Amino acid sequence: MTKAIAKQPVIVQAPANIALIKYWGKRTGCGNLNLPATGSLSITLSDLLTTTKVELDQSLQADAISLNGIAVDEKRIHRFLDHVRSLTGEVMPYCRIESSNNFPTAAGLASSASGYAALAMAASKAYGLSLDRTQLSGLARIGSGSAARSMFGGFVLMHRGIRDDGSDAFAEPLLDATAWPLEVVIAIVTTKAKAHSSTVGMNHTMATSPYYAQWIEHNEARLVQAKKAVLEKDFECLGALSEASALQMHASAMAAEPGVLYWQGATMECMHRIRQLRGEGVPVFFTIDAGPQVKAVTLPGHASKVRDALADISGIEALEQTTLGAGARVL
Ligand code: PMV
Repeated sequence: MTKAIAKQPVIVQAPANIALIKYWGKRTGCGNLNLPATGSLSITLSDLLTTTKVELDQSLQADAISLNGIAVDEKRIHRFLDHVRSLTGEVMPYCRIESSNNFPTAAGLASSASGYAALAMAASKAYGLSLDRTQLSGLARIGSGSAARSMFGGFVLMHRGIRDDGSDAFAEPLLDATAWPLEVVIAIVTTKAKAHSSTVGMNHTMATSPYYAQWIEHNEARLVQAKKAVLEKDFECLGALSEASALQMHASAMAAEPGVLYWQGATMECMHRIRQLRGEGVPVFFTIDAGPQVKAVTLPGHASKVRDALADISGIEALEQTTLGAGARVL
């Protein structure tokens, strides 16, 4: 074995991110490369973190994976690790992985984003690959489309790319977190894992929703405007674009047959409450991913008001508050 594989475990911490301009749907005919049908724009969260330890072990007959202390045997993770090993061009040992999230897993809180970003960085380093952040972003994308964005901090732009080999489908930083320190309040409606994974939901939307083509068309145009809004720090404009992207993503999913429904009653209540707050002069907008949780994005100094307003909605299990932060890093 000639690669400089890690003798010590490699530990990486990666943040979750939430898309303000969503990705929902994959390019077809590109194998397992997981190429997005549209670009996206996200914010990286400082306080929702996955920590992943990867240790190569010659004695293992298969990868041994534990998530939040529980052994898991997920095909998708094994496939991802096989891909990492294939990049070395050599026969490599299996590895032992311990990963934990400091927030609910698979509940529409971007755990696959932080999870695959952490795994991409830790496993590639453990197997002796030296990849730069752009390459790591492309690698993380193969695990989960949104994970490509967690390599970077602050405001992040994910390119759809046009090449069939996926070499131009990666994320890049757009604006640093310190340049525009937005805050996010997350209303957790349920900590239970969602019924349909994002991939299942988006594939079904692509296959059966009559609104899918329009969703793609409108979202691409919105991305250009949102990039400008971030660079100009135009909160009102970014808020309008973000709410439109989230609602149109869900509208396309709801229009599938049968419809994909991620919302609960409290999800709807939160949206109304956020709009009411905005009517009262509080700078705040919402976004919702593939789950019932609502993320309220606000300007510094307003998070506690937003939190208080969401706290008494019945059906909210918990509230999390976070600022924007940095991308994945080796500990
Ligand atoms: O990264 P995935 O494949 O789990 O999909 C993420 C999809 C959304 O969270 C709904 C939108 C996005 O761009 O993050």
